[in-house]
Amino acid sequence: MDKYIIKGGKKLYGEVEISGAKNAAVAIIPAALMVSGVCRIENLPQISDTDKLLDILALMGAKVNLVNKTTVDVDCTDVYFNDKIFELTRDIRASYYLIGSMLGRFGAARTTMPGGCNFGVRPIDQHIKGMKALGATMNIGKGLIRAEAKDGRLKGARIYLDKVSVGATVNIMIAATLAKGQTIIENAAREPHIVDLANFLNSMGADVRGAGTDVIKVRGVDSLHSGTYTLIPDQIEAGTYMAAVAGAGGEIRINNVIPKHLDCISAKLAEMGVEIEEGDDFVTVRREGALHHTNIKTLPYPGFPTDMQPQISTVLSLAEGTSVVTEGVWDNRYKYVNELRKMGAEIQVDGKIAVIEGVPNLTGAPVAACDLRAGAAMVIAGLCAEGTTVVEDVEFIERGYQDIVGKLRGLGADIIAVSEPDGPAEKLTAVSAG
Ligand code: EPU
Repeated sequence: MDKYIIKGGKKLYGEVEISGAKNAAVAIIPAALMVSGVCRIENLPQISDTDKLLDILALMGAKVNLVNKTTVDVDCTDVYFNDKIFELTRDIRASYYLIGSMLGRFGAARTTMPGGCNFGVRPIDQHIKGMKALGATMNIGKGLIRAEAKDGRLKGARIYLDKVSVGATVNIMIAATLAKGQTIIENAAREPHIVDLANFLNSMGADVRGAGTDVIKVRGVDSLHSGTYTLIPDQIEAGTYMAAVAGAGGEIRINNVIPKHLDCISAKLAEMGVEIEEGDDFVTVRREGALHHTNIKTLPYPGFPTDMQPQISTVLSLAEGTSVVTEGVWDNRYKYVNELRKMGAEIQVDGKIAVIEGVPNLTGAPVAACDLRAGAAMVIAGLCAEGTTVVEDVEFIERGYQDIVGKLRGLGADIIAVSEPDGPAEKLTAVSAG
C-alpha cells in the first residue's frame, strides 16, 4: 500500500486483537538458524520485517513453511552461506542478529551492516565488543561484516555492556548459546522480548538464565533441538491502540496482551485522564473527558518505551497545558514533529527535549510516515484531527503493524489504504474480522 486516507473525529469503540511481538519475532527468527531441526513459531506477526527475515533464512537453505497465517515451521537442518541475502539484510535492523546466529551455527558470519529506521547514529560497537569477547575476529568494511570464531567455536566470556542495548544483549545471548563454556552479560537490557528470546532458546535446549534482570548467564550447549514456541504479544502495538483511543476518545478492549508489559504506558495515560482496567490478558481503555498534560522520559524497560514516544507525544499535543517529553534512548527521534506541525500541533524541540503546548484540535493534512512509530503517530493524529489526513510512505508502518487499517476499521475508524498514489480507483484493503 502507498498511503492511508483518514477522516478524523470518530471515537473508537469495540475490540482489537494484538499480534505477536515484532521485536521478539525479529530476534527469534535469526536464532532459529542455530537449530538443527524444525522450529515451529506461533503467534508470528504478519509484517514485512518478519517476512524478510524468513526470506533470508530460505535463501540460506532453510525450509520455511507457513502452517497458517500466524504459524511458521522453520527447518534449518541444512543451511549454508549465500551472499544473495545481502540485498535483504541491508534493509532491516534485525539482520544484525545473524552475526550471533551465524557465528553460533557456522563459527563464522557474513552479512551486511544493518538498515532500519533512521534515528541519527545507530552504532553497533557493543555488538562487536561482545563478539570479540567471545573470541571472534570482526572485519567490517564497505558495508560488509565478516566474523570468524577462533578454532571454529566461540568461547564463553564475561561481558559488561557500556550502554543498555536491546540489540547487543540479544546478539550476545544468541551467540553464547552454542559457545563453549559460560557467558555472563552484565548491564543487560530487560525488555519483554529479551525474556521471550531466552524462553525460545531454552525451549530448544539452551541454558539461559536471568533474562529480565540486568545479569544474564548463558551456559553454552553443543546443539539445539526442534521445538514449538509461541511469541508474546506486542507491547508497542498494544500501546499504540491505547494511545489511539486516548487521542480519539471512546472505549476499546485490547485483547491478547500481557498487562504487566503495559504498566509504564498505562501509568502515563492514567495521568493524562485516561481510564484503564486490566484483565488477565486484556485491557479496557476509555477516554471521555479532557486530556491532561504530563511529562515523560523514555528509558530502557521498565521505563517508558522510546517506541511509544511519537504516539504519546501526538496525544499530548491535544492535552490541556504544557507537556515536556525527554527522549532518553535515541539522539534523533523527533523528525515526525515537522509533520505534526502541519496539522496544527505546537511542539518545540531542542535536542532530546520536546515541549508540547496542547492545542484544542488538530486539522487534517497530507503528512508522511518518517519511520515505523512516527508513521503510527501520524495515523493517530489523523484519527484525532478534524477533516482528512493523507499519510504517505506507509510501507514504514507495515514493517511493524499487522493490518493496522483493518484493525482500526474494526474499531469504527474511517481509514482506507490506497495502492495507487493519485489514481482514481482507490482500493480498500481487506477488513479484518477483529
Ligand atoms: N547503542 C550503542 N551501541 C550499540 C548499540 C546501541 O551506543 O552497540 C545505543 C543506541 O545508539 C541507542 C541505545 O544504545 O542510543 C539503545 O539502542 P538498542 O541497541 O537498545 O536499540 P536496538 O537494539 O538497535 C531495539 C529495537 C528498537 C527500539 C530499541 C530500544 C529491534 C529490532 N529494534 O533497537 O525498536 O527502539 O531497541 O528499545 O528490536 C521499533 O520497534 O520501532 C524500534 C526502533
